[in-house]
Amino acid sequence: MTRKLFVTTALPYANAPFHIGHMMEYIQADIWVRFQRMVGSEVHFVCADDAHGAPIMIAAEKAGQTPQAFVAGIAAGRAKYLDGFQIGFDHWHSTDAPENHELAQDIYRALRKQGLIAERTIEQFYDPVKGMFLPDRYIKGTCPKCGTPDQYGDNCENCGAVYAPTDLKNPYSTLSGATPVLKSSDHYFFQLSSQRCIDFLTEWTNTPGRLQPEVLNKIKEWFAVDEQGHVGLNDWDISRDAPYFGIEIPDAPGKYFYVWLDAPVGYLASLKNHLGKVGVDFDAFMADPAVEQIHFIGKDIVTFHTLFWPAMLHFSGRKVPNHIFVHGFLQLSGEKMSKSRGTGISPLKYLEIGMNPEWLRYYIAAKLNGRVEDLDFNPDDFLARVNSDLVGKYINIASRAAGFLTKRFGGQLSSDLGVEGRVLLDGLRAHRATIEALYEEREFGKALREVMLLADRVNEFVDQNKPWELAKKPDNAAVLHDVCSVCIEAFRLLTIYLKPVLPTLAAQVEAFLKVEPMNFADAARAIGGHTIGEYKHLMQRVDAKQLDTLLEPTVVEVPPPGGETLAAEIQVDDFAKIDLRIARIEACEAVEGSTKLLRLTLDVGEGKTRNVFSGIASAYTPADLVGKLTVMVANLAPRKMKFGISEGMVLAASHADGKADPGIYILEPWPGAKPGMRIR
Ligand code: MSP
Ligand code: ZN
Repeated sequence: MTRKLFVTTALPYANAPFHIGHMMEYIQADIWVRFQRMVGSEVHFVCADDAHGAPIMIAAEKAGQTPQAFVAGIAAGRAKYLDGFQIGFDHWHSTDAPENHELAQDIYRALRKQGLIAERTIEQFYDPVKGMFLPDRYIKGTCPKCGTPDQYGDNCENCGAVYAPTDLKNPYSTLSGATPVLKSSDHYFFQLSSQRCIDFLTEWTNTPGRLQPEVLNKIKEWFAVDEQGHVGLNDWDISRDAPYFGIEIPDAPGKYFYVWLDAPVGYLASLKNHLGKVGVDFDAFMADPAVEQIHFIGKDIVTFHTLFWPAMLHFSGRKVPNHIFVHGFLQLSGEKMSKSRGTGISPLKYLEIGMNPEWLRYYIAAKLNGRVEDLDFNPDDFLARVNSDLVGKYINIASRAAGFLTKRFGGQLSSDLGVEGRVLLDGLRAHRATIEALYEEREFGKALREVMLLADRVNEFVDQNKPWELAKKPDNAAVLHDVCSVCIEAFRLLTIYLKPVLPTLAAQVEAFLKVEPMNFADAARAIGGHTIGEYKHLMQRVDAKQLDTLLEPTVVEVPPPGGETLAAEIQVDDFAKIDLRIARIEACEAVEGSTKLLRLTLDVGEGKTRNVFSGIASAYTPADLVGKLTVMVANLAPRKMKFGISEGMVLAASHADGKADPGIYILEPWPGAKPGMRIR
């Protein structure tokens, strides 16, 4: 029976272009989908931009755009990546599309009818200047435990303390700098803590084959009952107050769905739009019990997909997901990358410098398994796998045999092949079931290992039969014909096995072999007697220099006013080496013999003063400065100058060329800063 599959990847936030981690997820899902199609499944593979939420609203505002225009700009850049890496989504949609508004509101109404929506008044920080409630990430303040300033509202980066934003000392809004005030507001909650939800989720999560074992174990921790008998699921706050970029909650003016409520509904909205285009009824499709709903996601968004989303679907009377396939994170040479910025590998740069997208598909596939494990992009490993395995073992088979066939036998394959050849090919065919099972289980690394072991066998066959020797003696023509025909047939079989990973290459092979697009069932056939086309080189090797170019840090060429380009990127550790302090200018005098310098006497809270020469005489007189606070580099090595020793440096702003504005502007802290305070 044909399987009917509805497959998605997570919907990326529409606040930035794709990074290499996104591409990894799409490559994983795309390989699985292509495999399914090659074994006869009907697949609908869709995705969309996750358009809503406070961060996107704020980013749009900063860019001086409406959120809709901002999101459209990001969406417009998507195709380059998806086409570039041959990701075959059937449709790409947006969670801000009309279908999603309608579906999200329908689902909410159904949940309310079920009595699963509660209304509660909560107190939250509110930015009186911006006129909006502040998500935790936009609140900073001083750690209540260790006193480190400028810590986020949920935990301290210095001491690791975890707290609520309301525990912060001197809290401020990172949007306006204003001190937030506590304000109450009515919120809507999805009652996940209800027994009905717990019962359903217990059953759904424990259904055999639904989740990976390690995912199920994590979920069991969340369900754990504490000493008071409280099951570890809380009700979920699904509403946000205006201003918010999102979907309005029915019958609740000024209230919007929290972005994570309508985001997964976007899976359905995208499918609905897609099915509309291909003339399939969405409701009928979703009502078909044969349809399997499958979501590929990363390990960071498991709660949303294994608790909230299935419960939303079930209690609104809809089909629930059949599988959630969770993957780990892609890292670069063992280093974690930030979720928003990705690794130092830019997918677009990869394409722009002419690297073959199928190298990356192959490499990622070779590293992937069905478990939730992080995987590492390692340039040496990349080079070795592509050059030795993909090109060295597989591509080479064709190049070793094709020339003889076209030159000596008009490209026609022999039908006999010889005993040894038939045994070899039967062996290759016998592995089809194993390879199919490995693709099915997303054990792509193992599948490719199988294929490479088969390629080894074929290469041994070539080495033993030595077509280049056979070609020297006319008597051996029949044997040469058989040997080369076996190689081409073997190459065809290996191409079928690799096709989910290498779709473009497989198409080129099909053109070269003059065969119809191949599926897994075509491995059972033989193409003896068939005439193939002329072999053209199919794939280059990776050049180590390309990887160097790919990984070398990109200089960000942001032309700031004044035309000065940004200095090379530094890490926070580099910055931490510079000890900047607040200094009080105790005394200041002109320097005899210099028109540029002033001599400053600075109090940096050390119980003694420092002597610093500064080239600001063109902009300030001593009278302007005495008694003022400024900022100095306090750990700069003392420097002997013509007029004495300078024990630091004060900070001032200026244009590099000084043409448009020759001014020099000394820094002055906001009121409240005290001499000796460190600037971080
Ligand atoms: N918008 C949400 C998902 C909503 S789904 C209804 C989101 N977006 S995201 O852009 O941050 O992430 C999209 C997907 O990329 C997630 O599955 C996430 O796990 C995945 N990845 C983000 N960084 C990744 C790596 N470094 N490696 C692999 N996948 C990564 O979350
Ligand atoms: Zn702290």
